[in-house]
Amino acid sequence: MKHVRLGLVGLGNIGKFHAGYLLDKKISRGELAAVADSNASNIEPFRAKGVKAFATSEEMIRSGEIDAIIVATPHFQHTTIGIDALKNGLHTMIEKPVSAHKADAERLFAVAREHPKQVFAGMFQLRVEPRYQKIKKLIDGGDLGQIVRINWIITDWFRTEAYYASGGWRATWKGEGGGVLLNQCLHQLDVLQWLCGMPASVRGFCQLGRFHDIEVEDNVTCVMEWANGATGVFVSSTGEAPGTNRFEIVGTRGKVVLENNKLTFTRNDADMVEFSKSAKSGFAKPEVWNVEIPFADASNGHAVLMQSFVDSILDGTPLIASGYDGMGSVELANVLLYSSLIGETVQLPLDSAAWETKLNELIANSTKQKKVVKIQSDDFTSSFRK
Ligand SMILES: NC(=O)c1ccc[n+]([C@@H]2O[C@H](COP(=O)([O-])OP(=O)(O)OC[C@H]3O[C@@H](n4cnc5c(N)ncnc54)[C@H](O)[C@@H]3O)[C@@H](O)[C@H]2O)c1
Repeated sequence: MKHVRLGLVGLGNIGKFHAGYLLDKKISRGELAAVADSNASNIEPFRAKGVKAFATSEEMIRSGEIDAIIVATPHFQHTTIGIDALKNGLHTMIEKPVSAHKADAERLFAVAREHPKQVFAGMFQLRVEPRYQKIKKLIDGGDLGQIVRINWIITDWFRTEAYYASGGWRATWKGEGGGVLLNQCLHQLDVLQWLCGMPASVRGFCQLGRFHDIEVEDNVTCVMEWANGATGVFVSSTGEAPGTNRFEIVGTRGKVVLENNKLTFTRNDADMVEFSKSAKSGFAKPEVWNVEIPFADASNGHAVLMQSFVDSILDGTPLIASGYDGMGSVELANVLLYSSLIGETVQLPLDSAAWETKLNELIANSTKQKKVVKIQSDDFTSSFRK
């Protein structure tokens, strides 16, 4: 194979975005060969451009027209379409979240493991953003010392009622399986566990439909504890304006803060724990250096991950993010909500069957009727820079 024929299923917000840079030939050795969407009006413009168009993923997967698939449908279909694609020999790239819930992710991963020659990738584009890579370098290089506290307040995900009314699947237990944690915050939860590892226990406080006429969570405050005793708080909302986005990680050698597009490192001249043990004065504190860490603007992270997918298929190079890497974020989104719903602290790993049972109960007992309203098409890409 010299180039990869890509098939894209799901031509909504993100599907159209992927199609845009693929059609602009931004991916070397990868071409958009086919698209599929259950809504006929979404596929017609592509047919007119000479791209093969299918009404269903099943037809596209079996067409012989593609080598690889990008799954950009609502979350629940990531598992079913992903499994179908893998079983039919396709390299598979799954949008975030890798599945709607952990048990589904386990089913998808089991099939991916049965097909190790096919590349299985996840779209976790924040991992290539320079600001997060710089934080990773500080942590992995030991500059921060041992992490003791993590705070992420990300309450600037403001969404209107019109947003929630724009898709029948949105903000429903049946269509999405969760709210702000699984949808808007999924990338931040991915970054959080990519940088700091998975917590050992969590306690979520999630308000369902606090600001909107929806049944899932739109306002959350979560407490986490790591095995080494580090603690953390994750706060998010889609109902708060103006909102805040402040990510702070404290280590024994200082603290790093990402806020207002600035990355600052306040470096302790001595490890704070050792300093405390050896200082003779009761009020002494380690001296600090204030460092503003420069970082380049993010380029098109989605395209970078897509190129990594194509290169991995053709050259066997390692992926930036595999599909398997999607487990941490889906598990966190599930467990924070589960903990809130049962009113208890939950130890990780999450019992995937317990959450699936709870979610199925929520689906069965759902009484909310959704009215879908067509809304004006805003520039949804503005939500990428979080
Ligand atoms: N990586 C990112 O930055 C990013 C950004 C936005 C959305 N997403 C993810 O992408 C997925 C889609 O989100 P969206 O905002 O584009 O949704 P959307 O509602 O705008 O689009 C979904 C599309 O899928 C189609 N569809 C639904 N079921 C289908 C099926 N069974 N077969 C074929 N087509 C089907 C719909 O007709 C629609 O066109 C979600 O899982 C979301 O979490 C990722």
